[in-house]
Amino acid sequence: MLKVQGLQSGYDKVIVVRDLNIEVQEGEIVSIIGRNGIGKSTFVKTLMGLIPSTNGEITFKEKNITKLKAYERAWFGIGYVPQGHGTFPTLTVEENLLMGGSINKDRKNNDLNLVYEYFPKLKDRRKQKAGTLSGGEQAALAVSRALVGNPDLLVLDEPTEGIQPNLVSHISDIVRQINKDIGITVLFVEQHIGLIQQMSQRCYAMDKGQVVGEIVGDDIKDYSVLKQYLAV
Ligand SMILES: Nc1ncnc2c1ncn2[C@@H]1O[C@H](COP(=O)(O)OP(=O)(O)OP(=O)(O)O)[C@@H](O)[C@H]1O
Ligand SMILES: [Mg+2]
Repeated sequence: MLKVQGLQSGYDKVIVVRDLNIEVQEGEIVSIIGRNGIGKSTFVKTLMGLIPSTNGEITFKEKNITKLKAYERAWFGIGYVPQGHGTFPTLTVEENLLMGGSINKDRKNNDLNLVYEYFPKLKDRRKQKAGTLSGGEQAALAVSRALVGNPDLLVLDEPTEGIQPNLVSHISDIVRQINKDIGITVLFVEQHIGLIQQMSQRCYAMDKGQVVGEIVGDDIKDYSVLKQYLAV
């Protein structure tokens, strides 16, 4: 479904992501692990078209999307949950969800009931300003907002950062459920090893803007294997 080949990007003259190669098959849940500041979010933003690539190619559903604008990629079926969740604090829960649909006019799922089924708490709080939600509720809202756009691929950048441990597994359960029920493919960045183990079938390790390892099969259950990619 997604193939990233030799991707390079960065800021001004500083190259952050270099020669990055990643592949995700339809229906998979794939994670990316790596220490702070090594370019995970820069990669994700390049994938979403928020930062231009300076080399390499991104293929999504067999189409070369390397030069497409961010909104075109969203329209083409890539949903995005930015690091820190990126909800609009002064808008209500429902308005945030409707924004998720408006980004994706042609493919939006107008029926907010689908996300309310996954996150019933958001329905109760639909008239509440997003800025007043708890961290966990904001994470749920961010995932829900991306779902309203009806994506084929959901990209999450540290979705559970800064939320309580008991809510971490709630978000992970729901993302897995969505993958199973609707068949949405998932690519997520995480530093929380437990979550990587719970959620993903495969994990790429990143360092200095590159993929330096791929953890598959039983190795993903091995804490020490994953841990080495977070150690300095
Ligand atoms: N807007 C920007 N302008 C210039 N440099 C930036 C910008 N954003 C990030 N960087 C730099 O790019 C490098 C990679 O940052 P990035 O946010 O991609 O890391 P990360 O792996 O996502 O880290 P974390 O785990 O802390 O989220 C860092 O050195 C950072 O300082
Ligand atoms: Mg980041």
